[in-house]
Amino acid sequence: MNDSPHQPVLYKEIIHALQPHDGGRYVDGTLGAGGHARGIMEASAPDGRLLGLDVDPQALALARKNLAPYEQRIHLAQASYTSLTPQLAQLQWEAVDGILLDLGASSMQFDTPERGFSFLQDAPLDMRFGPHVSQTAADLVNEYSERELADLIYQYGEERDSRKIARAIVKARPLHTTRELVAVIESVSPRRGDRVHPATRTFQALRIAVNEELASIKEVLPQAVAVLRSSGRLAVISFHSLEDRIVKDFFREQSKDLVNPPYERIYEEERKATLKEVNRKPIMPSDDEIKSNPRARSAKLRVAEKL
Ligand SMILES: C[S@@+](CC[C@H](N)C(=O)[O-])C[C@H]1O[C@@H](n2cnc3c(N)ncnc32)[C@H](O)[C@@H]1O
Repeated sequence: MNDSPHQPVLYKEIIHALQPHDGGRYVDGTLGAGGHARGIMEASAPDGRLLGLDVDPQALALARKNLAPYEQRIHLAQASYTSLTPQLAQLQWEAVDGILLDLGASSMQFDTPERGFSFLQDAPLDMRFGPHVSQTAADLVNEYSERELADLIYQYGEERDSRKIARAIVKARPLHTTRELVAVIESVSPRRGDRVHPATRTFQALRIAVNEELASIKEVLPQAVAVLRSSGRLAVISFHSLEDRIVKDFFREQSKDLVNPPYERIYEEERKATLKEVNRKPIMPSDDEIKSNPRARSAKLRVAEKL
């Protein structure tokens, strides 16, 4: 049904977590090919409704096709999940029963060479999720100072060779294609015998920076809590530790009453916990899932329920 060769990551776990029901209202903030959304529509038949968002017009077109059988019950919009509140206001939905965020790039994006996400294919250094993003990976690579590049590659890629790589990039630029960038990285950061390609972390770092991914996650989480109805659930799948840490810290923080704010947070008001973590530990894909879809291997699902 969907055009991806795989079942979406943690599919059964997402349906179990969100517990979609007839008449419920749901948001898929990262629609992609619509695989999870299809499951939500099936489980919430005949009257469940869904708002599906994606910034990528290609993803949206694919999802529209894959979700055609449920067309009457879905609203799709080319928009960022960071605009969750105004998107729901447009539909006059005051509260929702479940929200899904399946972060990062989709298989479709990785497998479309000209998008520039993959270091295995030669393409322009683009990496934008959608046309609303103002700068491409080429802009960052060619315009940032050596110091800025090193910091970016270190912080968002957790790459220990960040300084060497930044120096080599600055020396070799202008760089226009993924292959040129891979060659520069390989020249200073050879394979270390582990399974990870030496360009993996730098590509991840550039993608996160181009799309301001971490800032977007921080922006959407409080909105999601505000629009969930009591007992509604928020499910977030992340693919690397930087994303997961943001989600984990937010869930922990919101699961506690804030009484007598500590000195460094003296300006915050006392408040009651808003969430309950459904699982203390993140849910990971089974060995079988990883075997059939190696991209799932770093996925972590965290689920919280609105109090
Ligand atoms: C991992 S894929 C989702 C796959 C989807 N769950 C499925 O079943 O096919 C992530 C999607 O989120 C989209 N995306 C990334 N940042 C976004 C944002 N700020 N707002 C909305 N969509 C975003 C990407 O364009 C991509 O299509």
